[in-house]
Amino acid sequence: MQHPLEPLTPREIQQTVRLLQEAGHLTSTTRVISMSLLEPPKEWVYRFSQGDPLIRRAFVVLFDNSQNACYEATLCLDTQRVITHTHIPGVQPTMSMDEQMECEQAVLQSEKFRSALRKNYGIEDPSLVMVDIWSAGNYGSEEDRTLRLARPLCFLRSDPTDNGYARPLEGIRPVVDLNEMRVLRVEEHGHWPIPPQAGNYAAERTTPHRTDIRPLEIVQPGGPSFDVDGNCVHWQNWSFVIGFNGREGLVLHQVCYNDLGTVRPILYRASLSEMVVPYGDPAPQQARKNAFDAGEYGLGYCTNSLELGCDCLGVIRYFDGHLCTSRGEAYTTKNAICMHEEDFGILWKHTDRRIPDQPEVRRSRRLVVSSIVTVENYEYGFFWYLYQDGNIQFEIKLTGILSLGALHPGERSKFGALIAPQLYAPNHQHFFNMRLDLDIDGVENCAYQLDVVADPPGPQNPYENAFAAVPQLLKTELSAGAHLNLETARSWKFVNPNRCNAVGEPVGYRFLPGDNCVPFASKNAWWRKRAGFVDYHVWVTHHHEDERHAAGNYPNQSSGGDGLPRWIQEDRSLVNQDLVLWYTFGHTHLARPEDYPVMPMAYLGFLLKPSGFFSQNPANDVPPSPKKLATLPCCNT
Ligand code: CO
Repeated sequence: MQHPLEPLTPREIQQTVRLLQEAGHLTSTTRVISMSLLEPPKEWVYRFSQGDPLIRRAFVVLFDNSQNACYEATLCLDTQRVITHTHIPGVQPTMSMDEQMECEQAVLQSEKFRSALRKNYGIEDPSLVMVDIWSAGNYGSEEDRTLRLARPLCFLRSDPTDNGYARPLEGIRPVVDLNEMRVLRVEEHGHWPIPPQAGNYAAERTTPHRTDIRPLEIVQPGGPSFDVDGNCVHWQNWSFVIGFNGREGLVLHQVCYNDLGTVRPILYRASLSEMVVPYGDPAPQQARKNAFDAGEYGLGYCTNSLELGCDCLGVIRYFDGHLCTSRGEAYTTKNAICMHEEDFGILWKHTDRRIPDQPEVRRSRRLVVSSIVTVENYEYGFFWYLYQDGNIQFEIKLTGILSLGALHPGERSKFGALIAPQLYAPNHQHFFNMRLDLDIDGVENCAYQLDVVADPPGPQNPYENAFAAVPQLLKTELSAGAHLNLETARSWKFVNPNRCNAVGEPVGYRFLPGDNCVPFASKNAWWRKRAGFVDYHVWVTHHHEDERHAAGNYPNQSSGGDGLPRWIQEDRSLVNQDLVLWYTFGHTHLARPEDYPVMPMAYLGFLLKPSGFFSQNPANDVPPSPKKLATLPCCNT
């Protein structure tokens, strides 16, 4: 163990389980929903230096199915004590992986479900039926408030390994009580025949394969340029700590830049705080589809074990993810996080026309830290990129299989795209919220919204060409929420007013949003009550350790109002304070046949760009790469 922010080790997870058992907090009906490092306070971490004693504490969410009761526990692993064990009334934590697997079996074995299968589809043997566990949400009913529920979607495979999503059992929706692991009822919404075509993508089912691809190898004869010590990484001038937990998955801590010998903080903690994927089809069997993948499923629990050569190409350093089953057993997702270097084309170039034989060109190298999650039908890749010029980029890559519905022959849906005969993909959106705890060259920062505005015509602007950036200081939380604005090329700048750069201005980083959208569901839609974070693209809050998840700690089946919209009611000061930027970004997915049977990656993200943080281009010192001889003959003779 090298650093206080390294995730819990398997041994610490086992220790935590043992301490909870000894204290009588783990009964036969208690599930461990999550177990993660309780991070030391920021001030303490900043005072920490290598070799100091560590503080190791754990934060645990427990759920007792027999009491329908959620508990939070904190433990000190240094003193081997349970510090707190508190009942959190009226909440439903994340569905554990075990519950999801048990739920599938409970549905398949249920007599109610089997009789619905017989009646609607003539299916006697459910062994080829797949049951995907979807969260139930909260639509204002008594059961949504008082039970622990799932509303699975069901599909029929034609054999045990084909793509079952191609064959939805559209009309039937079981509703499951997860505490009793019992099907309460099977809702029947009508009958649609099973779509006729297979939609396979597995290698052995998609032959013949194209044959004109020759090998491409990434070779680093001297090894990669990073150093790893535990979860601490140094790469060129960058340093950071890799974190991982069941709820957020991959987390970056303490991203700093060594600027000519001074280690300067930039990003104290960065994670995907919440997600929601609302569907836009009013059909009763489709309308309740929305998934809060972090708060309802847990991104860490859904994280893939990555494979060299397939997921990642080159000289790869993997990091494992250590988690705990709902029954209190430590387990490891091997290769949960991938790190490697990539050539990223040209970093900068200039040719002096008068010295044409001496072009100056530098190649860009970026460090990639990534993980991929599978949440039932869909995959999300989370990719961090650090660049030599001080840029920090985050990109989400969306792939996997669309959530599909069945249609009658000749039928079309206004609210989705026909992608194969009798098979349609309902319109939907993917919203992500990123929590970025920025510490630009220190903890106390200010935030500005930057709008570029044309000057009015007049004596000061005789050619009517003038425009200028208009910074607006964000003074308090309630006034900080904003949408993107194309008309003013809106961006945001975070500065440290206490440190000046070489031109006498506060050092800063700009936040540059990428593709985005606004929600189409009304503010009264049930999912939006729980996802207040979609009300603005950008939120800025005064840092608070307990404010981690944009839709609150327990969005599953909540009646809403928690998270960002609630926190900003305090309207705390944002001037020269410890600030957190929360960015909501969405992808409006109007599916197309090319997204089927498996969807090629779609990309979405943002950029943090130094803006007066350095006194000039920090990548000026990147050496030129050696020239190489051409390996292919030139053909434009
Ligand atoms: Co989509």
